[in-house]
Amino acid sequence: MVTRTVDLRSDTVTRPTEEMRAAMVTAEVDDDVLAHDPTAFLLESEMAKIMGKEAALFVPSGTMGNLISVLVHCDIRASEVVLGDNSHIHIYENGGIATIGGVHPRTVKNNEDGTMDIHSIEAAIRDPAGELLFPTTRLICLENTHANSGGRCLSVEYTDRVGEVAKKHGLKLHIDGARIFNASVALGVPVHRLVQAADSVSVCLSKGLGAPVGSVIVGSETFITKARRLRKTLGGGMRQVGILCAAAVVALRKNLSKLEGDHKKAKILADGLNQINGLRVDAAKVETNIIYFKVMEYSRMTAERLCKYLKDHGILVIYEGEFRIRIVLHHQISASDVQYTLSCFQVTNLAHMHIHLCVY
Ligand SMILES: Cc1ncc(COP(=O)(O)O)c(C=O)c1O
Repeated sequence: MVTRTVDLRSDTVTRPTEEMRAAMVTAEVDDDVLAHDPTAFLLESEMAKIMGKEAALFVPSGTMGNLISVLVHCDIRASEVVLGDNSHIHIYENGGIATIGGVHPRTVKNNEDGTMDIHSIEAAIRDPAGELLFPTTRLICLENTHANSGGRCLSVEYTDRVGEVAKKHGLKLHIDGARIFNASVALGVPVHRLVQAADSVSVCLSKGLGAPVGSVIVGSETFITKARRLRKTLGGGMRQVGILCAAAVVALRKNLSKLEGDHKKAKILADGLNQINGLRVDAAKVETNIIYFKVMEYSRMTAERLCKYLKDHGILVIYEGEFRIRIVLHHQISASDVQYTLSCFQVTNLAHMHIHLCVY
């Protein structure tokens, strides 16, 4: 019988804390489309300041934050964006930049660490002399941390170099910073410095920070004015949105300090998994709160069956392919949850478990 649930599917699964719920109950609100909701204004002002940008805008999701940002930067027909072939925008956002925005994606290979080679980025930028034939490159997108690479951090040096390339060619730089605070904490670089080279950043409130809903985009006053209008176009203008922003303000003020703990727990879990016969994690590459691990073929176990075994023990993870599983740490996973998870894996080695699972 399952005695507890350890939900490691994503850092989006957190439930609002009591303090967030209390803040939502008492939030001062107004119509954020007619006027400016005061609690939304508070959140946006705090976020703009932390990120070192002129202005900010609350949006319902990271997907909408990225879409609005790309569309603001690429507001002329036949615009092209250079972005990673393994980036969230390219893979998991329904191709919205193309289907809704008419923006042409030009992908560059993402390396294992989430970077794209600088010379490949530069080579992907269209020669304006060929504009009769080519789309016009207007934007470069980075993702920090890079989710599909296992939460790897892009360094400030790398980001600055991409920023220089963008400037040299008259382009804008957008960062999908769904987990930018994780990167800032892991690198020990203030977040405003990390995104200094960017013209816009989309920051998720509902991931590591633990708010129930929303993202914030930051940039110049002009960028945010255009973004506000596009948010309305996309149906993201919300009336008494301060109810949601109140929880996000608590998340921003209280949960940033918890990210370091999430990273430490991820390391403990990664090291522990590595010691289990039949599993393999490149623990040195676990820089933040995401772990991808392999179920080795010799273990005669598949990821699917291992996920089922874990689920039967209350441990929820994400199946990522026949031999690959994803785990994400967040502030509602305790040290004891980590130990419980490891103990479930450790019960026996996987080869033995294979026999066990066949019997039952
Ligand atoms: C790197 C990255 N960017 C953007 C998003 C989109 O955020 P949302 O789910 O709020 O639309 C996610 C969500 O998982 C993400 O991991």
